[in-house]
Amino acid sequence: MSTRKTSLLEPHVLLGAADREALQRRSIKKHDTAVILLHWFNASIWAVELATGGALLAGPGYQIAPGWWRTFMISLFGSPAMVLKVHITAGVLWTAVLAVYGVFGFRKYLMPTVSDYLIPDMDDLVWLKNRTLLMLGKRVSLPPQGIYNAGQKLYGLAVYGGTAVIIVTGLVMAFHLAPSWVVRWAILLHFLAVGAIFSGLFVHVYMGAVLPEERPAFYSMFTGKVPELYAYRHHYKWWRRYKEIELDWRQDLEREAAAERRQSEEEI
Ligand code: HEM
Repeated sequence: MSTRKTSLLEPHVLLGAADREALQRRSIKKHDTAVILLHWFNASIWAVELATGGALLAGPGYQIAPGWWRTFMISLFGSPAMVLKVHITAGVLWTAVLAVYGVFGFRKYLMPTVSDYLIPDMDDLVWLKNRTLLMLGKRVSLPPQGIYNAGQKLYGLAVYGGTAVIIVTGLVMAFHLAPSWVVRWAILLHFLAVGAIFSGLFVHVYMGAVLPEERPAFYSMFTGKVPELYAYRHHYKWWRRYKEIELDWRQDLEREAAAERRQSEEEI
């Protein structure tokens, strides 16, 4: 396998049965525990905020959730004012946790995530074009992808940008931090940012929890790891970089061991 392994690092080759088996047996780390915990905390807060926020939108022109949902939420929490209180409390908790993550995890988590995850490259643009052509029935191939594919990157941009807008506008609305014309703009921006994230959420949850070929990504949101075969097939550029670093690291270790051996032989 050792000579084949190096050749796998070269072009994106078709795998033989032995390589497939070997890659399937090994796994590589995709997510840190802190990122996994933050993701599920974020998903839980979204569930609470959508449930309460939907019930709060009750005007005749802009009601989103059905009437029975509003009635259910009000009977659950006691009054519309209590529904609003739960909405604001969950929002403030969310803001506080994200602020801690942003400040203390800036170097270790936030910056690497932004550079690896959010910024699209040329391959991503080709991927988006070819993915559209594939959906239209054309026969084209997709270029290799990094740790996240171009679709995930676009959704990531919406989530990171939208989250910042939701937090700032939410704080302005909840605590009347600005003149009333600014609060009115904040309400509009708050809805637009929630709408942008919410519209992609169905695809995100479908891809993450339902689509069989993405099942390893779903499990990785609990274990932090994916099988190398999945990484090789879906995120080849990331897998290759990972292997190159591993190879460099092994070669460094071997060089150090050889140098130590030589030194002790000279001393004898
Ligand atoms: C039941 C709900 C959800 C499921 C099943 C789910 C599933 C997943 C899965 C499987 C991944 C890993 C993708 C990969 O590694 O390739 C992921 C990542 C991600 N998800 Fe979700 N997700 C849910 C809710 C949400 C919500 C509500 C948001 C944001 C509003 C969100 C934003 C993200 C982001 C930004 C990532 C990138 C990973 C990271 O946190 O760095 N997810 N999700």
